[in-house]
Amino acid sequence: MCPASSRGAPPTDGAVAAALIDWHLREGRHDLPWQRDRTPYRVWISEIMLQQTQVATVIPYFNRFVGRFADVRALATAPLDEVLNLWSGLGYYARARNLHRAAIQVCTVHDGRFPQTFEALAALPGIGRSTAAAILALSCRQRHAILDGNVRRVLARYFAVQGDSGDPAVVRHLWSLSEACTPARHVDVYTQAIMDLGATVCTRRNPACGRCPLAGGCAAQRSGRQHELPTPRRRPPRPRRQVFMLAARRTDGAVWLERRPERGIWGGLWCLPQFESPVEARRYLRTTLGERTPVRPLAAIEHAFTHFDLVITPLLAHCSRLGGAPEAAQHAWHRADSPGAIGLPAPIQRFLQRLGSDAIQPQLFD
Ligand code: ADE
Repeated sequence: MCPASSRGAPPTDGAVAAALIDWHLREGRHDLPWQRDRTPYRVWISEIMLQQTQVATVIPYFNRFVGRFADVRALATAPLDEVLNLWSGLGYYARARNLHRAAIQVCTVHDGRFPQTFEALAALPGIGRSTAAAILALSCRQRHAILDGNVRRVLARYFAVQGDSGDPAVVRHLWSLSEACTPARHVDVYTQAIMDLGATVCTRRNPACGRCPLAGGCAAQRSGRQHELPTPRRRPPRPRRQVFMLAARRTDGAVWLERRPERGIWGGLWCLPQFESPVEARRYLRTTLGERTPVRPLAAIEHAFTHFDLVITPLLAHCSRLGGAPEAAQHAWHRADSPGAIGLPAPIQRFLQRLGSDAIQPQLFD
């Protein structure tokens, strides 16, 4: 059994909770995989996967993940490569590394029992205040307020909260509104309902106010300001970063990959070696792989990260079958068409598939 919430019960905005609970019972999603057998472990995995990712995308990843790692011990004892492999394509890989670290911590600190108090959960890697609250509300019916991006938008509109949503004073205000709206009874249904409302009805670009159970009391709807609220964050212009990646391919179809450092983009994933210039790539080819073969630029790959766009120019080099440095834990030849159980960034995985099927045409620089 999950312990009851240790927090007191401040006054709640009962109207919001009642309307949302009623709406969810009538129209909500009730058959998602993580809604069956709602253990804190399964809800934890689903909440981490659902961060910045849509439900439809998450479903197959969740099923594969819990199919392979049925409990926290199975996750803790798995190699990180296998965890990253099951995460390949979901993006934001720090989430997978943190899941693995947290699982190890649960085994060492909590004797393999997934913690069920707010403080212990929020102390685990990758679990912030809102995620800890959501896990406990959904799996243990403990009363805790949440404030993820969807909930922020719903509350900012309903209560017409103005101001940059990155401003700490605005965030504090939204937390206090979330606290006030969170009910003691049916907190699991309420929590799922407010997240679903933000994801499916009170969406950023096209709020469907005609279908919204909160429309009657919504200050933004009353004053026609749904599209102005929440006040968008002031963001600097997105930088574009240009890099080169060496696609060293042997005659037997193997490609030279390296594991990226833990910190930084695609941390811990396997990738083509990355360089700032073709000159550096050619030097690496000579010194590390012992090859003097020419490199040919291929069509650029563009990938959008949250804060910048990455433009990758792959440089193809045909290597001799015997060439190559001794393999180490951080470098290895992998078959391009079936690299094995390693974590690969989605655009690199797609590139390797095309390389493995010989669908790639070299292009010259403009
Ligand atoms: N986003 C984060 N958690 C979610 C959940 N449980 N349901 C829908 N969207 C979510």
